[in-house]
Amino acid sequence: MARKVDFLVVGSGIAGLSYALKVAEHGSVCVISKTQIQETNTRYAQGGIAAVVEKPDSYKKHFEDTMSCGSGLNNESIVRMVVKEGPKMVHDLMNWGTQFDKKPSGHFDLAREGGHSEKRVLHHKDNTGFEIQRALTEKVLNHPNITVIPHCFAVDLITQHHLGKQIKRQDSNIECYGVYTLDLNNNKIETILTKNTMIATGGIGNLYLSTTNPLISTGDGIALVYRAKGIIENMEFVQFHPTAFYNPIERPSFLITEALRGFGAILKTTDGKPFMHKYDDRESLAPRDIVARAIDTELKMRGDYFVHLDCRHLDSDELKSKFPNIYEECLKRRIDITKECIPVAPAAHYLCGGIKIDNNGQTSIKNLYAAGEVSSSGLHGANRLASNSLLEAVVFSDKAAKASIQNLSQSKFVEKIPDWNDDGTTLPEEMVLITQSQKEVQQIMTNYVGIVRSNLRLKRALTRLEILYLETEVLYKKSKLSLRLCELRNLINVGYLVIKMAKERKESKGLHYNIDFPPEINL
Ligand code: FAD
Ligand code: SIN
Repeated sequence: MARKVDFLVVGSGIAGLSYALKVAEHGSVCVISKTQIQETNTRYAQGGIAAVVEKPDSYKKHFEDTMSCGSGLNNESIVRMVVKEGPKMVHDLMNWGTQFDKKPSGHFDLAREGGHSEKRVLHHKDNTGFEIQRALTEKVLNHPNITVIPHCFAVDLITQHHLGKQIKRQDSNIECYGVYTLDLNNNKIETILTKNTMIATGGIGNLYLSTTNPLISTGDGIALVYRAKGIIENMEFVQFHPTAFYNPIERPSFLITEALRGFGAILKTTDGKPFMHKYDDRESLAPRDIVARAIDTELKMRGDYFVHLDCRHLDSDELKSKFPNIYEECLKRRIDITKECIPVAPAAHYLCGGIKIDNNGQTSIKNLYAAGEVSSSGLHGANRLASNSLLEAVVFSDKAAKASIQNLSQSKFVEKIPDWNDDGTTLPEEMVLITQSQKEVQQIMTNYVGIVRSNLRLKRALTRLEILYLETEVLYKKSKLSLRLCELRNLINVGYLVIKMAKERKESKGLHYNIDFPPEINL
């Protein structure tokens, strides 16, 4: 028997939970997440959330910083809308119990990050995401209309395809009726039928060997929508955070927040020389694409594995009180940041593109919404401004909540959906082959589709990925569903989309830097 709910939410980060809380007064809600509800990218966010809350800041300045960081590929009207919604969204988060740091005067203690012309980042110490996740999780778990199902993996969207109809990507009448899910406690496949589905599955960091993202980030939502013939865009814009703690055996890499550079920390080569002045007047606080590429260039020139982030000149008491998490985590890794430099290197961090949505969070598929990192709203353009991601997630969840509440009366549960056809009878004989293939995908993407790309590298990447695609499809067809195999298949799907869109872009813009198309301002 299929489960039926008015609103199905796939993902329990800031996008999924804020949507759930907003629709819950209007019907039954089910939130699924593939591990524990708290294990999300949101939980690891450090710097904070960008919003215009006081002078001398203004919407105009936040708009201009976002546009300039995105190399003008942003959707201007979306940027204007998101920036204006900022203060209201901060208010909603606080109403749900999130605490942001304040100064003794009662004003917010605003931080500054790369690409921001003003201090405008609201934060909770250096673990803002943990605080937001805590507050939202508490609210959702206590809401009588919301059922939370952890360890429940969304496998595929249910559309007309499952009623035996042929659908094509250009079709404008594709509809989503629900989701097939895999219960990871007992490996049973369930059908969830719904009137509104929200995809809020986060990013794709695990496509790369080194990432700041937790293990959950395997691009599932994007792969699901792509297979259901929905529209995906801007996948070539993968953001590498310039400063992840360099430790090749650690996964995910521990992030060293940009707010530390906002507080005065300076990037230096391992022989102690600052280098950012060679690349941008804003030096260590230039936008992320510029800083990550500058570090990449220095590492390649010098044959080094990391550069240094130097905080030693900063007031040590203030440093410890503003960045307690970083101080403790670095100590665990045997670095006292008040006395020693932090070894850092770029790591895959954020995807600017994804499932195309309109200003209501509506995807190209009817009854299907998306918000947060999985989506492409037009806010970020070719490069995301720091701390605009949490903001984007709450704004579009709010818009999608309003749109799906309106849609509720027009949408019906669709009957006669067949159960999942589990033709595959066996589990893969050797799970190690899946592990190996995942490693290969990560190697291909890291070696050929990283911070600096070329036509030849992209071509190589595609040829190699194709082999893995064919092998994995054969294995998938004959195997029982398993988390690892589904994730591998999804990673290959999103890897293909990144390469395809990178090949299609015949210019270097923002995060997509192809040496065969030198940009106007050369690095
Ligand atoms: P997530 O928070 O990633 O949640 C995804 C959810 O989807 C999880 O619950 C997961 O279990 C679920 N899921 C995924 N696939 C499936 C599936 N197949 N089936 C079921 N469930 C599934 N942004 C900022 O704006 N400011 C910051 O300071 C900041 N710092 C960051 C620091 C780090 C270390 C990282 C990694 C990111 C940071 N970001 C920051 C980015 C930001 O945290 C994320 O973009 C944002 O939290 C994404 O939220 P989300 O709700 O879209 O997805
Ligand atoms: C950071 O704190 O440096 C991460 C901020 C972000 O990704 O927006």
